[in-house]
Amino acid sequence: MRIDVLTIFPDLFTGFLSTSIPAIAIEQGRISCHTHDIRAYAANKHRKVDDRPFGGGPGMVMMCQPIFDAVKAAESQDPAAGGGSVVRVLLTPQGERLTQPRVEWLAQQPRLTLLCGHYEGIDERVIEELRPLEISIGDYVLSGGELGAMVLIDAVARLQPGVLGHEDSAAEDSFSVRSADGAPLLDCPHYTRPREWNGREVPDILLSGDHAAVDRWRDAQRIERTRERRPDLLLNSPLAEPQPLPAANTNKPAAQVARATRSTASSSDDAPLHGQTAPEGA
Ligand SMILES: C[S@@+](CC[C@H](N)C(=O)[O-])C[C@H]1O[C@@H](n2cnc3c(N)ncnc32)[C@H](O)[C@@H]1O
Repeated sequence: MRIDVLTIFPDLFTGFLSTSIPAIAIEQGRISCHTHDIRAYAANKHRKVDDRPFGGGPGMVMMCQPIFDAVKAAESQDPAAGGGSVVRVLLTPQGERLTQPRVEWLAQQPRLTLLCGHYEGIDERVIEELRPLEISIGDYVLSGGELGAMVLIDAVARLQPGVLGHEDSAAEDSFSVRSADGAPLLDCPHYTRPREWNGREVPDILLSGDHAAVDRWRDAQRIERTRERRPDLLLNSPLAEPQPLPAANTNKPAAQVARATRSTASSSDDAPLHGQTAPEGA
């Protein structure tokens, strides 16, 4: 996937693209990301990209010409990438709210052009001309579209095959994991060493070595969490009703769970994590 980002602050992307998951996706050749300084396309002496709004009022408006030319120039590079098909995205608080299904769709596109606005926004006429998909990262207003573009790049990068390192990682994340009837769920809680921290123990079922029981517990936790925290996700699902949880302590203070855990689990912090890879330094 090729991603072109149109921005007046390309330097903002330097650290982001060379760190963590976006860097891995780039290194593996799953995505390539190219930033373009809109200012470089301004056809005026002072490389001005904004002007005062017609009709008066506060702030400045980004002008049509630099943006239009920047988009055309970016998309004319490497025309084979995407096989001629480009999805243009304008980051704007007025757009469709970004969700995981939209991220999954975007992650499958061969080529994206991301347009970052600033100031009061962008002259409406160039938006009409470019006809981008308008995406918002939430109901709040940022100073520019760059953080939104980074959110989108990170979300699509981690869905590229092989990037997360573990096949199921993304499929088990919140919003991707689904109940039997197809409702999106939140992820279950996670724990790692030590077994006891600050008087809190890991739920004993996770130490039992019974993978089927662990799977059942995790499924029940996902449903319970979703019901408590995001009932809106279950509006059309019978899961909206309370579900019985498999018997397991959930983060009770150590004193209360000690009796229950002794019989089933090793008392050592070196105990295997049951199929999980211990994080570095554990
Ligand atoms: C200060 S905002 C402009 C807000 C605009 N006057 C409005 O009220 O709709 C400047 C730029 O930040 C970006 N931006 C701000 N909030 C955003 C959000 N929630 N999602 C995506 N982009 C956002 C857009 O690119 C926008 O053009």
